[in-house]
Amino acid sequence: MSASPLHILVIGLGSAGKRHARNLRALGCLVSGFDPRTDRQQEAADEGPLAATFGDLEAALKATAFDGFVIASPPAFHIDQIIAAGACGCWILCEKPLSIDSESCRRLEAAGARVLLGYTYRWWPPVAEFRRRLQDGDIGAVRHIRFVMSAHLADWHPWERYQDFFMANKEQGGGALLDESHFIDLLLWFAGKPQSVMASVDKISDLDISADDNVDVIASFSGGMKANLHLDLIGRPHQRHIIAVGETGTLMWSYEENAVKLSRTGELKWEDQIFTCERNDMFMGAASELLELIRGTRTAPSCSLADGIAALEVVDACRQSSASGQTIRLAS
Ligand SMILES: NC(=O)c1ccc[n+]([C@@H]2O[C@H](COP(=O)([O-])OP(=O)(O)OC[C@H]3O[C@@H](n4cnc5c(N)ncnc54)[C@H](O)[C@@H]3O)[C@@H](O)[C@H]2O)c1
Repeated sequence: MSASPLHILVIGLGSAGKRHARNLRALGCLVSGFDPRTDRQQEAADEGPLAATFGDLEAALKATAFDGFVIASPPAFHIDQIIAAGACGCWILCEKPLSIDSESCRRLEAAGARVLLGYTYRWWPPVAEFRRRLQDGDIGAVRHIRFVMSAHLADWHPWERYQDFFMANKEQGGGALLDESHFIDLLLWFAGKPQSVMASVDKISDLDISADDNVDVIASFSGGMKANLHLDLIGRPHQRHIIAVGETGTLMWSYEENAVKLSRTGELKWEDQIFTCERNDMFMGAASELLELIRGTRTAPSCSLADGIAALEVVDACRQSSASGQTIRLAS
């Protein structure tokens, strides 16, 4: 006898929410959706069967005992929705960032919610391979890591005015620093917590937005390693890459080339490892892990609430540094 399908409620039926709904259906789940916008409910229903659609979260939670949740609303709503959905003890896949700052996450301490956080590059095979090679010592002692993410905001959601997208809106959790905290999460995943950060977080372009569009961070680690992150919502063509410089070589991950490249010291060329994965694979990885956590075939999430709070503590320190012009030390 086959087990009945898991029933997942997707909270927020925008770009990420619809993608999760498609992926969860492909993984055999029954999917329901909640979005305050009726056009978004309709778009999601047009893509494939939904067991139910809701315009009110409380009504959705009263109507059905779901087996799990995906939260894909703007970041300003994540904490309230984790608390509301998590009251039943079910696992939640919450999209990144966990919230808009680390202070707001304190409310989760008493909630005891079970959360898998969607810093989805952790499920991107070339990034996992890049990390493995750093940790295996392929470039010797790592001295410096540079992260670049540059992508013009108007290109992100061609179906809507960028001014209407939450990314334009500071209060809802938009902006380069929060949204591309993917790269802060990867920095922490690769190298642990920096001792200090010096950052500049600004709005410098002609984009008609209240959120920041350009971020430059220098992070310093015990042992002397440095990292810098450049994140912007302005650049064309888009660039996402990470370059680590070590004593015996340089390792690069390039999203656009879908490759990990190694250059050994003394050789002025790259050895390329080319991947064939597609962007949706990282979201499938996260959705599959959610189902393993719900079924109990896995007990701990590979990206946790603690990881989400750690990334937001770095975000907070960057904001503080930018506002004060000072280097900010992070609590060890
Ligand atoms: N992991 C990734 O690589 C990745 C990629 C894209 C988006 N995301 C994350 O997913 C989240 C949503 O991003 P998006 O690109 O889908 O944005 P979006 O604007 O396309 O979708 C957000 C949806 O949330 C709805 N919404 C607004 N208020 C709400 C509320 N109170 N409750 C529920 N829904 C509400 C909006 O109507 C909209 O349909 C963000 O946290 C974003 O950072 C992650």
